[in-house]
Amino acid sequence: MNLKDCHNVEDFRKLAKKKLPSPIFHYIDGGADDEVTLRRNSESFNKCDLIPNVLTDVSDIDLSTTIFGQKIDFPLFLAPTAMHRLYHHHGEKAAAKAAEKMGTMFSMSTMSTTSIEEISNINRGPKLFQLYIHKDRGLTDNLIERCQRAKFHGLCLTVDTVVAGNRERDHRTGFSTPPRLTFGSLLSFAFHPGWSFNYLLREKFKLANIIHMTDKGSSIDKSVIDYINEQFDPSMNWKDAEYCIKKWGGPFALKGVMSVEDAKKAIDIGASAIMISNHGGRQLDGSRAPFDQLSEIKDAVGDKLEIILDGGVRRGTHVLKALALGAKACSFGKAYLYALSAGGQKGVEMILEKMKSEIRRDMILMGCKSIKNLNKSKIIFRA
Ligand SMILES: Cc1cc2nc3c(=O)[nH]c(=O)nc-3n(C[C@H](O)[C@H](O)[C@H](O)COP(=O)(O)O)c2cc1C
Repeated sequence: MNLKDCHNVEDFRKLAKKKLPSPIFHYIDGGADDEVTLRRNSESFNKCDLIPNVLTDVSDIDLSTTIFGQKIDFPLFLAPTAMHRLYHHHGEKAAAKAAEKMGTMFSMSTMSTTSIEEISNINRGPKLFQLYIHKDRGLTDNLIERCQRAKFHGLCLTVDTVVAGNRERDHRTGFSTPPRLTFGSLLSFAFHPGWSFNYLLREKFKLANIIHMTDKGSSIDKSVIDYINEQFDPSMNWKDAEYCIKKWGGPFALKGVMSVEDAKKAIDIGASAIMISNHGGRQLDGSRAPFDQLSEIKDAVGDKLEIILDGGVRRGTHVLKALALGAKACSFGKAYLYALSAGGQKGVEMILEKMKSEIRRDMILMGCKSIKNLNKSKIIFRA
């Protein structure tokens, strides 16, 4: 199997599984506890059906939308995800270049293996930075100020990761960062010589945004889970979020909002957006799927917040359904990481291209000229 055999997310997943040592693949692929929420995220989209209109002249389709003040060519972008250097030797640069080429937004994680400044140099397109609040508050200020200088367009604060979720696949595979050699992992690395060669001989793994601020920056001795539990600040609260919004002074989202109550509070503290998300099922297992919460949150906040939805998005129809219930755009994580692992920048371009043409085709089949025409009347929930 190779890139030309990849027609959908599942194909990229299979190729990523073939190319990556198992601890790395399962770090991307896995969720928390029994992975109930992980599975539910995609399944939730199947509870309702799309109702098309016919004979509407769909010769000219507009897929564009505006998020964080930036126009993107179609309503799907790359969610912030940690440590791309583990999945491909070009790391975040590959994903950022692919996003710009395809006319969509790149989101960069605090836990990136490429720095804010490096990404700003190679990506002139829409860029979002994802913030984690560390116990060392100087680090938060430093990250915000660097994003301002690097002209990022928006910031999102992840609020669902005050402790790390219990990702049992990582315990079983012995996942660590940088990858550690145990008997089991050694076998897996030996069976993936392409990955191992690139990992050992190319650019060194580092948490590029925080390397200068923490001695854990270049090497997390145990695992990313230990890093989160040791370094992230569990006392983070609404006042801290408000502080970040004021300091940033531009488009700002809370990422990981799942309740109406919290969405309303996000308005009160001055957020311009929320990302309805459960971290791709990697944090609180048993939490609801973002899609199941969307309608209620949209009814409560109206147009006071831009709503982004992530979690389980694998098909163009998933995006259409989310937009019909009030999201302005969706983002996805695992899907593009499979593609990055499978084929670097080319792989990410391919998955974005495939999703864009799916969304376009689905819009035509729905009889919708513009994503603005997607609304609740286009969906029926099955009893
Ligand atoms: C490997 C991996 C790493 C992630 N790292 C981060 C991160 O550093 N910060 C963050 O806010 N979310 C992170 N996420 C969550 C994504 O931003 C997003 O919420 C999630 O992937 C959406 O679900 P999906 O993977 O089903 O598309 C990560 C997800 C994955 C799969």
